[in-house]
Amino acid sequence: MTLAGKKVVVVGGSSGIGRAVAELAKKDGADVIIASRNAERVKAMAAKLGATGIPTDVSNDESVANLFRSTGPVDHVVVTAAQLRSGPFKTVSMDDVRATFETKFWGAWRVARAAEIRAGGSLTLVSGFLSLRPRPNSAVVSAINGALESLTRALALELAPVRVNCVSPGIIDTPIRANMAEAARQDMLAKIAAGLPVGRVGQAEDVAEQILSFVRNGFATGSIVYLEGGGLIV
Ligand SMILES: NC(=O)c1ccc[n+]([C@@H]2O[C@H](COP(=O)([O-])OP(=O)(O)OC[C@H]3O[C@@H](n4cnc5c(N)ncnc54)[C@H](OP(=O)(O)O)[C@@H]3O)[C@@H](O)[C@H]2O)c1
Repeated sequence: MTLAGKKVVVVGGSSGIGRAVAELAKKDGADVIIASRNAERVKAMAAKLGATGIPTDVSNDESVANLFRSTGPVDHVVVTAAQLRSGPFKTVSMDDVRATFETKFWGAWRVARAAEIRAGGSLTLVSGFLSLRPRPNSAVVSAINGALESLTRALALELAPVRVNCVSPGIIDTPIRANMAEAARQDMLAKIAAGLPVGRVGQAEDVAEQILSFVRNGFATGSIVYLEGGGLIV
């Protein structure tokens, strides 16, 4: 199924996986709208991609409602927006934990409620491998990812004929780790790559291809794909 003429909204489309989705959808002829919080970044990325940019904060009900008032009915919605603040379970602040839920979980929830998706269209969420492969200091992210995967299946039933799917990435080299020192980031990514059957970490385009396959495949709903370079089998 080509996306020519389809209206595709990428919430989180100014960076990383969302940017790659927006770019591929645009190449396929879609009318692409990107939404994310930082107005300057949305504007700059929208201009680069030839997309429309709408500043939106997914942690705010009114901001998300405003996004979909501006777009009107759409064909496909992809949610990649998240800002994660985690830490040791016993000491991470409740403010950080709540803020993480507000963007990644409640943000996806708000988008799913506010978007008017045409019949046969789709909603694709992004969770993450920590739902199945927890690590210390990230319990809140594990819990959110698991909740998003359950939400996907519930919404696939309740929002039908709109299709709802979820992609769960492993480690992907995106600006999400921009606050790490560059040498430490490269070292961490190299160590992870060496332990994976595919011998490399993921790129944003790897995940975007999977998201777009859900967008295009009219038989896919309630599906969750774990895309982690074999990380769950080692
Ligand atoms: N990269 C990985 O290794 C990895 C692994 C597993 C799962 N994931 C998941 O994949 C998704 C995308 O991650 P990524 O690596 O592409 O991250 P990224 O490059 O940091 O992009 C995150 C996007 O979310 C937007 N955003 C953050 N807070 C927002 C808010 N309150 N309202 C609206 N937009 C907001 C950012 O926009 P602003 O710049 O405007 O804030 C940015 O466009 C996330 O859910 C992440 O948890 C990533």
